[in-house]
Formats: sequence, C-alpha cells, structure tokens
Amino acid sequence: MKKALITGVTGQDGAYLAKFLLDRGYKVYGMTARRSTASLWRLEFLGIHEQVELIEGDMGDMSSLVRAVRVSKPDEVYNLAAQSFVGTSWKQPVTTAQVSGLGVLHMLEAIRLTDPTIRFYQASTSEMFGLVQQPIQSETTPLYPRSPYGVAKLFGHWSTVNYRESFDIFACSGILFNHESPLRGIEFVTRKVTDAVARIKCGKQKELRLGNIDARRDWGYAGDYVKAMWLMIQQDKPEDYVIATGTTTTVREMCQIAFEYAGLNMEDHLVIDPELYRPAEVDILQGNPAKARERLGWRAETPLRELIRMMVDADLQRVRAGESREIFSV
Ligand code: GDD
Repeated sequence: MKKALITGVTGQDGAYLAKFLLDRGYKVYGMTARRSTASLWRLEFLGIHEQVELIEGDMGDMSSLVRAVRVSKPDEVYNLAAQSFVGTSWKQPVTTAQVSGLGVLHMLEAIRLTDPTIRFYQASTSEMFGLVQQPIQSETTPLYPRSPYGVAKLFGHWSTVNYRESFDIFACSGILFNHESPLRGIEFVTRKVTDAVARIKCGKQKELRLGNIDARRDWGYAGDYVKAMWLMIQQDKPEDYVIATGTTTTVREMCQIAFEYAGLNMEDHLVIDPELYRPAEVDILQGNPAKARERLGWRAETPLRELIRMMVDADLQRVRAGESREIFSV
C-alpha cells in the first residue's frame, strides 16, 4: 500500500487530495498545525475524517517535519501547507515568508536527511506570475510576484527546483491557477460572493462589499486540480507544470453568474469598497495548460458557471440549515 503525507490537509486542496488518494487505496497521513480550534470540517464534509491519520506539525519547526516524515514513512509528500490568503500577506509578511517560503525548504531538508527517495510535490502558484510578463502564462513565462505571498511562494518554487537539480530528489511543482469549490475559505473572493449570495437570498444579509472587480482570474474546480498533483508525481521524471483552464474571467462576471443563478440583481447589493483594494494587484491571470494536457493527459473538466452554481447551492444549503458561518470559513 502506498503512503502519502499531506501538509495542509485541513485546507481545501488537502481535503480533496486526501479523498482522491484514499479512493486509490493510499494510506493517508495529514499534517496539521495545532490551533486553538481544530478545523476538520472539510474532511468531515467529504466523509474521510476517520480515515486520515493526523500528525501534528508546523512548517516553521523543521524538527516537527522530520518527525512527521519518520512517523509516516511516506512514498509521496504533498506540501500544501501555506499562509495562502494573498490579502493577509501584507499584514503578516514575515509569517507568510516563514510558512509559505522557508517552510518548503524545511520540508525538502526533512526529506533529504530522512529518505531522499521520497517523491515531493510543491504547491506553487500562478501568483508568482504577478505582473504578467506574457499575456498567457506557461512554464517558461518569467516570474514577477506582486505580494509577500507571491515572493514567499517564489522562494519555495525555486527551492524545489534546486533540490531536484542539486540532490536528485524527485521534486516537482504544480503552478496552479486559482481553484475553488464549496470547501474554499470564506476570505477568497469566489466563496465570499457565493456565501453572500446565499445569505442575501435568505434575507440574512443586504450588501456585498468587494474591492477590485476588474481583476481577471483563470478559475477552475479544486476537485479537478488535485488529480494533476498526483499525476505529476507518477511521472518518470520530475518536472513543473502549469495547471489552469486556459480561460480568464473578471471578478465582476463571476459575481454576476452567482447573483443571476440565485435570481438576484447584482446591482442592488454590490458595494465597491476602496478599503478592499490591495497595495499591489495581479490584474490578470490566464494559464496555458498545454504541457499538462500533452504529458499528463490532464484537463480542467468543470466550467466556471457549473463551479459557481455548485458553490451557491452548497452555501444556500448551509444558510438554510442555519449552520454557523464560522464553522465553514476557516
Ligand atoms: N479575497 C477578495 N476579497 N478578493 C477580492 C475582493 C474581496 O473582497 N474584491 C476583489 N477581489 C479580487 C482580488 O483583488 C483579486 O484580484 C481577485 O479578487 C482574487 O482574489 P482571491 O480570491 O483572494 O484570490 P487570489 O487570486 O488573490 O489568490 C488565490 O489564487 C492564487 C493562485 O493564483 C489564492 O488561492 C492563492 O493562495 C493562490 O496561490
């Protein structure tokens, strides 16, 4: 039986990946940082909370990573742990650098010192393209991060490349464009919108405050994207891949889709709040997933409209059931 260790297992991608691997017969270990309140709702939502073996660990504490690797003896490590909210990275730049940047190096070192035959996946991101240097971004597009988060991820990305080239470790990076789902945290724009739409529909909220709605993103479904992570690690050679849909949409259009689906008029509720603008913005992202399609046989299967409907439906169900919003946010 293959064994996998997933850091950040309580996050959106961690939960979907754990389910994907369990369905393929893996033994799954999930690393979580100790928090005052455990956040296992995503694993519970997918019905896998009793199948994932949790190991306490913190990306800032390399000894805890060595311990996690020793205890789990994994064939594959998926490093999904991060301070992943771009907005927060300006407020906590050092924490972001430690967790999302230096943390990657800690894990690479833990693998190198414990068992360098372990295969490693790094969750890199389209945020690294930042101020885009080419209209459509691929694996060869120069990187230009625009946030402390993007800068931290760049460090993690190049550390992964460097350990592959220096120590012959099977280390690969998935450069994933935005990917969403009903398990998305409420601070990210798609879920903020679908949650608000559900609450407005149910009479629990009147307005939705957003920042820059002219920003464009290449949004896919997280459930599709975790498969690409696994496919990368199964290849003969470790390489980096862009994972995207190939289409770009404005926040405004995405929002429109959500309101329309719920039978609401967006203009009646949307308020633009300059406070929510970011100090530096990534105006547009559009990925070219050709390499993943050709080499991995992977493609994004869920169109944005279907994804947004899925998210609105899930939020309507939560709001109607009177479930506490806090439980489903962190
Ligand atoms: N979160 C948020 N909240 N974003 C808003 C808002 C708002 O009220 N109003 C406008 N936006 C705009 C942001 O300025 C940004 O341009 C866009 O919506 C998307 O923001 P997020 O959903 O927060 O995602 P992100 O693109 O910054 O980052 C996500 O994708 C990256 C991959 O490109 C995160 O998942 C990152 O962890 C990931 O690496």
